[in-house]
Amino acid sequence: MRKRIIAGNWKMNLTPKQAKELILELSPKVKHAACEVVVCPPAVDLQAVSEAISGTNIVLGAQNVHWKESGAYTGEISAKMLLELGVKYVIIGHSERRQYFGETDETVNMRALFALESGLVPIICVGESLETRESGTTNEFVSNQIKAALKGMSKEQVKGIVIAYEPIWAIGTGKTATSAEAYEAISAIRSTIADIYDESVANLVRIQYGGSMNSRNASELLAMENIDGGLIGGASLKADDFAAICAAASK
Ligand code: PGA
Repeated sequence: MRKRIIAGNWKMNLTPKQAKELILELSPKVKHAACEVVVCPPAVDLQAVSEAISGTNIVLGAQNVHWKESGAYTGEISAKMLLELGVKYVIIGHSERRQYFGETDETVNMRALFALESGLVPIICVGESLETRESGTTNEFVSNQIKAALKGMSKEQVKGIVIAYEPIWAIGTGKTATSAEAYEAISAIRSTIADIYDESVANLVRIQYGGSMNSRNASELLAMENIDGGLIGGASLKADDFAAICAAASK
């Protein structure tokens, strides 16, 4: 059985002090969650959050990692830096990184491979634009993103990764994919993994839905047997909303 995983992508929100306050408010509300509870704060908040989650069931994630161990890469963050702060998960290839910061399928692949080799668990994001959805090629599009992202990964490595299916048109828009739309794209992702590796590997990979998931629509989305959790943006900044999503994932 795949353990569900709810991850909060805080994006570029909250100072270290505010981050600490949110954890203090959130931790008692999620302490009985049966799913994995992850928060992914901005890099400068990681130290404060790492301390604040100590002794709780909240797990730490980051929003990016570089593909080299160290060196002249101004503005980037290394796996070793993240590991020293107790980071376990790292979001890679979020559509905002692809759209605004030149992230490509190739850099997503390099970051994911290096994260795995370093002992971090990548949360690899894929998802189609509205144009792609309307042209009827969503499954093919996400399948190609998956093939590119997983290039060179061993069976053993792939088993542990997390994938987030996030239709771009649903991110931050309040427009959620229907559970049927999410189910279909996630099925396409899982069968792509089965084609590259095999069915048993595909059945171990956890695939989240992301894109305006909130306390009102989480139960319906998570009722789909192949949706293994959520990557939550806006709603992860409010303790009550995020805790309600974790509760929905714990059923
Ligand atoms: P949202 O963001 O929940 O605010 O739509 C999701 C994401 O970008 O991961």
